[in-house]
Amino acid sequence: MRHSHRYEYGRVILSPLEEKDIEELRQLRNRQKEYFLTKGEIGEEAQKKWYKLYLENDSDIMFRISHRDKPDIFLGAIAVYNIDYGSRVAEVGRTVVDKEKNAEAGIGLDATKGICLFSFTVLGIEKIVATILKSNERILKTDTRAGFYISGDGGDNSYAIEMTRTSLNLFDRLDIRGNGR
Ligand SMILES: CC(C)(COP(=O)(O)OP(=O)(O)OC[C@H]1O[C@@H](n2cnc3c(N)ncnc32)[C@H](O)[C@@H]1OP(=O)(O)O)[C@@H](O)C(=O)NCCC(=O)NCCS
Repeated sequence: MRHSHRYEYGRVILSPLEEKDIEELRQLRNRQKEYFLTKGEIGEEAQKKWYKLYLENDSDIMFRISHRDKPDIFLGAIAVYNIDYGSRVAEVGRTVVDKEKNAEAGIGLDATKGICLFSFTVLGIEKIVATILKSNERILKTDTRAGFYISGDGGDNSYAIEMTRTSLNLFDRLDIRGNGR
């Protein structure tokens, strides 16, 4: 959807995914394709076509992720989609962070907490759902640290996970462990 939401959380800025970002996103996503449920290689034309359709889809909000210290650099993307304002349920996913550009741990976690907080407070969503591959340890860690819990087994290779307003974890990992651990 063509939107103008901008949301900051932790170290990250979430801003509208722009046309200039989509080629970099395509290449990043292709490098990380084994971690997604849809594993196909995405071609340049298919990406352009997808973006055009995305802009017309009112229930899909895609963000570019950047670091507050270097806001011009595209670090990755995250989306809230299948937004149902009636039942107040939405899906969060398509999370990807370019570790070659920024190796700091937890950028994806900041983006995940940010988009969930945005969904609850700005969109008025009550429940966020997602599907992740069981083999994807990194997203399982990221999502459970953000406050998602496993709500179902999607078969041999995926988990259904969900989060409510009250399960969102706004504590910093260091706060939980105590300063200096
Ligand atoms: C998932 C993702 C967004 C998380 O980014 P992030 O918040 O910056 O977190 P990191 O990737 O730095 O690491 C998360 C944890 O996974 C661990 N990890 C890193 N690489 C790993 C690997 N290959 N296998 C298992 N665990 C790994 C990290 O050590 C860290 O754990 P720790 O904090 O206990 O040390 C990012 O890893 C990514 O883009 N992954 C590829 C795309 C993807 O899987 N998307 C989700 C599709 S549903």
